[in-house]
Amino acid sequence: MALISSSIQDVAALLQQNEIAAIPTETVYGLAGNAYNETALKKIFELKQRPFYNPLIVHIKSFKDLNLVATDIPTQAQLLATTFWPGPLTLVLKKQTHIPDLVTAGKDTVAVRVPNHPVTLSLLEQLEFPLAAPSANPYGSISPTKAAHVANYFTASPLTILEGGECSNGIESTIIGFENNQAVLYRLGSITIEAIENVIGPLLIKTQSEAIPTAPGMLSKHYAPRTTTIQSNNILESIHTNTTKRIGLLTFENRFEHESIVTQKVLSPNGDLAEAATLLYNALHELDQLDLDLIIAEKFPDHNLGRTINDRLERATKK
Ligand code: TXA
Ligand code: MG
Repeated sequence: MALISSSIQDVAALLQQNEIAAIPTETVYGLAGNAYNETALKKIFELKQRPFYNPLIVHIKSFKDLNLVATDIPTQAQLLATTFWPGPLTLVLKKQTHIPDLVTAGKDTVAVRVPNHPVTLSLLEQLEFPLAAPSANPYGSISPTKAAHVANYFTASPLTILEGGECSNGIESTIIGFENNQAVLYRLGSITIEAIENVIGPLLIKTQSEAIPTAPGMLSKHYAPRTTTIQSNNILESIHTNTTKRIGLLTFENRFEHESIVTQKVLSPNGDLAEAATLLYNALHELDQLDLDLIIAEKFPDHNLGRTINDRLERATKK
C-alpha cells in the first residue's frame, strides 16, 4: 500500500538511498528520483510503466543550478527562466554530459524546470542532486493533482507520497525548446502561449503527435479516463443522442438539466479559465470513479488556458 507522509526529511532520506517517492508540485504530483542515478531512474520507468523512449523532466531548486544540468543556454531561455521560475515552465536545453541517457532518452537535450511548491523546494534544498520526475500516474492516465490520486493509482506498491495539498495550477508545465534559435512549443501547459509570446515574441508550435513523440504529453491518446469520454461543442445535442446512457458532464460555466445526467462538474461558474484548469483533473478523477457509461466534456474557449484544457480533453477522448 502507498503511504502518504508529511515528513520532508523522511522523503529526502529515501531519495538519498536511490529509492523513489511521489512529490507535490504546483502543476501535478511527480514520481521522483535522483536524476544522476540509474537505479532510481529505472524504478521510475518501471512503476509508471513508461517506455524508455519518453524522456523525463529534471527538477532543480533554482535558476543558479541550471548549469549543473544544461549548457549553451540561449538568451531567450534565460529570459524565460528568470521570468517564470519557480513555475510551470519546462525548458528543453543542451544537456550536460553527465546527465544519464535514461533521463533524456538518449537525446542530447534535457528538459528542466524549477517547481513552484514550498514543500518540494525545501526537499530539493536538502538534496545534493536534482530530481527527475514524470507525472505520478501510470502511463497514459490522468495526472494526479492530490496525494490521494497517487495513492489510488499505486495501491499495490510501497510508494511513499510526500503530502503537499492540492496542486495550485493543476495542469502540467508548458514545454519550450529551441531549434535554430527559434523558440518552439512542444507541450501546451500551465503558462499560456500568450504569456510566453509577451516575453520572447512568436513561438513555433509543434504540439502534434508523432510516432515517437518529442514529449510524451504529445502522444495523441494521453491523460485518459477509463470511462469513454467525448468532447462536445453542443452539450444538449450530445445528451440527446446518448439518452440511454448514464452520463457525467464536465462543463466550463453552465449547468445543464436532463434525466440522463447522473452528475455534473461545473469547473468555474464565474468563467475563470485558471480556476477551471486547476480543477480539471480532479473532476475527471471523480467522474471516472462513478462507473458512468459516458463522460461528455464541453469544448472550452480556445484561448489562454482554455487552449491547454482543450488539448488535454482532446487527448483524453482519443480512442
Ligand atoms: O508539470 C510537469 O511538467 C510535471 C511535474 C511533475 O513537473 N511533469 C510532467 O512530466 O508532466 P511528464 O513526464 O508527464 O511529461 C514530461 C514531458 C514529456 O512530454 C517529455 O516528452 C518531455 O517532457 N520531455 C522530456 N525531456 C525532453 C526532451 N529532451 N526533449 C523534448 N521533450 C522532453
Ligand atoms: Mg505525464
